Amino acid sequence: MEKICTLGLGYIGLSMASLLATKGFQVHGIDINVKAVETINQGYSHINEPGLNDLVRFAVQSGNLVASFSPVPADIFIIAVPSLITKGHNPDINSIKAVTHAIAPHLTPGNLVIIESTSPVGTTEKVARWINKLRPDLVIPSLKMHVQPVSNKAQIFLAYCPERVLPGQILKELVNSDRIIGSMDKPSALKAQMFYKKFVRGGISLTDVRTAELTKLVENSFRDVNIAFANELSLICKKLGINVWEVVELANRHPRVNILQPGPGVGGHCITRDPWFLVNSAPDKARLIYTARMINDNMPGYTVNRIMEMAARFKHPVITCLGLSYKADSGELRESPAIKVVQQLGKDTTYQILAVEPHIKTLPDELIKCGNIKLVDLAAGLEQADLVVLLVNHHDFINVDLEMYGGKAVLDTRGMWRKTTKI
Ligand SMILES: NC(=O)c1ccc[n+]([C@@H]2O[C@H](COP(=O)([O-])OP(=O)(O)OC[C@H]3O[C@@H](n4cnc5c(N)ncnc54)[C@H](O)[C@@H]3O)[C@@H](O)[C@H]2O)c1
Repeated sequence: MEKICTLGLGYIGLSMASLLATKGFQVHGIDINVKAVETINQGYSHINEPGLNDLVRFAVQSGNLVASFSPVPADIFIIAVPSLITKGHNPDINSIKAVTHAIAPHLTPGNLVIIESTSPVGTTEKVARWINKLRPDLVIPSLKMHVQPVSNKAQIFLAYCPERVLPGQILKELVNSDRIIGSMDKPSALKAQMFYKKFVRGGISLTDVRTAELTKLVENSFRDVNIAFANELSLICKKLGINVWEVVELANRHPRVNILQPGPGVGGHCITRDPWFLVNSAPDKARLIYTARMINDNMPGYTVNRIMEMAARFKHPVITCLGLSYKADSGELRESPAIKVVQQLGKDTTYQILAVEPHIKTLPDELIKCGNIKLVDLAAGLEQADLVVLLVNHHDFINVDLEMYGGKAVLDTRGMWRKTTKI
């Protein structure tokens, strides 16, 4: 039975760890979050992801998944800790460095180290250099692809295999999505490919490590730039007094045009962060990607201004905000533009803010702290509102009949009610 040690037990690490444990691997998962480790060992997921709670329970009950705070010897080490962006938009890969240091004493010849964390170009080479320094007794893949080590007796293998999963679909996509494996030598590529073939149904492409790192960043930057185009259109349309939803709908009838939908900004920690890794690597070249990031980051502030203009009609306005998550039909709040909008509104104590988010049970701390924001159900929110702001296009909101509530001011930032309300 192959032994796996996963570093980081979040969305990616825990999903991989429990999937692998139910496929017969013996998995030891590591995290620094005490609550996460305890919860997992009790057979529960600390992450809200469809199907994950059951999978963790099966995995733990089978005896194949154990969580703890420090690594153990294994055949394969999978790094799934976050790589971050500083306030100044510089990459911070300290958690990858920390886990590299943590696993180094446990590495033995023949081990495969896989980095799944989304990382700036050059990260895998840095990991190779760190391991080389910490364990000079081991032969680590050369920075030149296909160069074989002089002796393979003490060789370890290293690969970069980025994740492409979508929260809400992680367990399906871990198995079904196509994968890229980046490596610095052929033996590492083949060893990683052999591993993924044991549970992945999608295609697996092999390439060099820098191409793989860049490809992952390009995928999320592509999304960000396209969303920014739609958002910029919405600003132009507002200025010209034209309905942006109608423009997008009509333009998309062109056979080679496919404009995305505008909204109050971009959320999730991938698309809001990964383009900065690209910008940082070539600031004078990545001008479009930089501008797109700025446009999307400014959307929550622009939305707040629009809401405040509308709220100025009322003396002590009750503003009902529909949706807090960063995407439809999910309770995922990470980097949510809706949270930023509601938090900013909460600073004005003349407002009473009612938040409707059917996918969560309590408000996040940053909104509780404002003091004038309450989580309510849809009917109560609509009943009491002076101004209704649609921030997330949850299914629950599609059939809202505003006629029933009469006389409410409405701002629909998603174009969900565009047939029945004026934007
Ligand atoms: N979530 C996604 O949908 C998604 C999709 C594609 C790629 N990714 C990438 O995968 C990586 C992991 O993302 P995630 O969503 O699982 O993050 P996450 O924040 O959900 O989980 C990361 C976990 O790592 C732990 N951790 C941090 N530092 C650690 C350390 N030094 N030692 C051990 N554990 C440590 C944290 O406590 C946390 O539990 C990131 O690079 C992310 O960009 C995520």
